[in-house]
Amino acid sequence: MPIGNMSAAKIHHSGGPADTTNSLKHLVNATHVASVMLAQTKQITPEILAPVFDAIKKFDCGEVGLMEPWHWTARKGEFLNSSNSLLSSKPPGLYYFHIAETSNFSIGIFIIPPGAQLPTHDHPKMSVISKVLFGSTKVKAYNWKNGVGDQVRGGPVSIHHDEILLNKGDIEYLLPDSGNIHRFSCIVNDEKVAQESNCENMLGCAVLDVILPPYNDNEGRHCVYYKEIVDANLGLCLKPVEPPEDFFVENLN
Ligand SMILES: [Fe+2]
Repeated sequence: MPIGNMSAAKIHHSGGPADTTNSLKHLVNATHVASVMLAQTKQITPEILAPVFDAIKKFDCGEVGLMEPWHWTARKGEFLNSSNSLLSSKPPGLYYFHIAETSNFSIGIFIIPPGAQLPTHDHPKMSVISKVLFGSTKVKAYNWKNGVGDQVRGGPVSIHHDEILLNKGDIEYLLPDSGNIHRFSCIVNDEKVAQESNCENMLGCAVLDVILPPYNDNEGRHCVYYKEIVDANLGLCLKPVEPPEDFFVENLN
């Protein structure tokens, strides 16, 4: 999904990967190579993606300043890091930490407060590999029944997987023709704490997204949000909708 009014500093603009360190450098380099191959062949393959999977497994989020989980202080409506430094006092939304982008790929981290959701959205002609860096999330994903989505009218879908639970270190991926529409719902890790009125220290979750190629309206890769409906004739369908009114993504860069 694209990030509204994002002014993220790109660590790289075009041509080659940035000079970063260790596992981050490895991930950026591997994604750069894969994205260039994809741009040439126009066809995603396991061989193209394999080095990216290898790099994302080894990625250490501490290298980009996300070494420890962040906590949500529900009582105060504040979002804190592990040192209790205030990051935001806005209502619950999502947060995005931009890492790298070229015309062929983008890499970033979504941080989702407890109970919040990255609404159902698609990734036309795109492949996405996601890794949970901390916390837990449930993921529901869909396939268009006719193979190609109609972003204007929506259409019938099948369930690719239904609310699978991903924990720290778990990796999930989608392809142009497989599980291409999905949503993430952050799990409240500590039910006992969550049930208390003055709940504090509930974990959010962080999800690293490696996207190739990135969203680009001019090249037909536009993000659309959807909601489930059941059509009397077609069965389970997704219908295009505006994102929820209280939904926002704040850029942390
Ligand atoms: Fe997504």
